[in-house]
Amino acid sequence: MEIITSIASLRTRLKRESSIALVPTMGNLHQGHLSLVQIAQQQASCTVVSIFVNRLQFAPHEDFDRYPRTQTADCHLLEKLGVDIVFLPDEKTLYPTPQEFQLLLPAVADTLEGEFRPGFFRGVATVVLKLFNIVQPQLAVFGKKDYQQLYLMQKMVQQLNLPINIMAGETVRSEDGLALSSRNSYLSELEKQKASYLFRTLFQVKQKIEQDDHNFRLLEECAKCELAKQGWTVDYIALQQRETLLPANTGDTDLVILSAAWLGQTRLIDNLEISIPSHPESSE
Ligand code: PAJ
Repeated sequence: MEIITSIASLRTRLKRESSIALVPTMGNLHQGHLSLVQIAQQQASCTVVSIFVNRLQFAPHEDFDRYPRTQTADCHLLEKLGVDIVFLPDEKTLYPTPQEFQLLLPAVADTLEGEFRPGFFRGVATVVLKLFNIVQPQLAVFGKKDYQQLYLMQKMVQQLNLPINIMAGETVRSEDGLALSSRNSYLSELEKQKASYLFRTLFQVKQKIEQDDHNFRLLEECAKCELAKQGWTVDYIALQQRETLLPANTGDTDLVILSAAWLGQTRLIDNLEISIPSHPESSE
């Protein structure tokens, strides 16, 4: 495995590759990230994993400074998986001058995560576009854990005509249902025990919908109340259409429930896809 820190060396090294897959990350790798790497490896002959904690996507009051940085352990894990290249730029490499050119995103980027983290997706899209331009992969893999991010990356490659296929990896969870996340390391022992309640709440909504309760707005409100009762501070719980990420309405069949909530000082996000069979046959 090669660890490359400069853009010029990476470009030279990648010249001889015809099939490149990129997995962009911010490091502190866990099984969720590694599952994306495995998808990439199945699809391309050269897999590049980038590790870069992107200041642009953090608001000034957010956790940029304390975001866990574990490069040695990360490289160890990637080496064991047989990754070809780790791209490990420092801040001066990706942002040698202030990043004044940034993307203008669609309105959906100001909803859900974007409502509570203004500018977040602009920062994500800008760094991902830079990584795409540097690596020029044919394939990039993103996790469903960050559902709205995945959605926006798909829209970005479509609307900007980038010749890149975006693949999605399923969310990897611990046994109790908690979605793996680098931010789980902020949780105290007691909070860790409570953390899976977010997933369980989403799962209960999914079950209710599957049992024909389609009062989506009421289901959202009940879920928020349940979490609040357990001591969470909810940013949003929203049942949306998978196709548009707009609010779901009666009759929609392909849904996703997206959520963000605080447990103490830690903000967790999760989501779950929900499918409603269309036009069930009436049994006469
Ligand atoms: P990061 O949070 O490190 O996540 C990197 C990738 O891993 C993302 O595509 C994310 O959705 C995926 N991922 C995280 N947890 C996962 C889990 N439990 N199961 C499956 N996939 C999971 O997302 C970012 O970094 C950044 O915004 C980035 C795209 C790198 C831009 O800076």
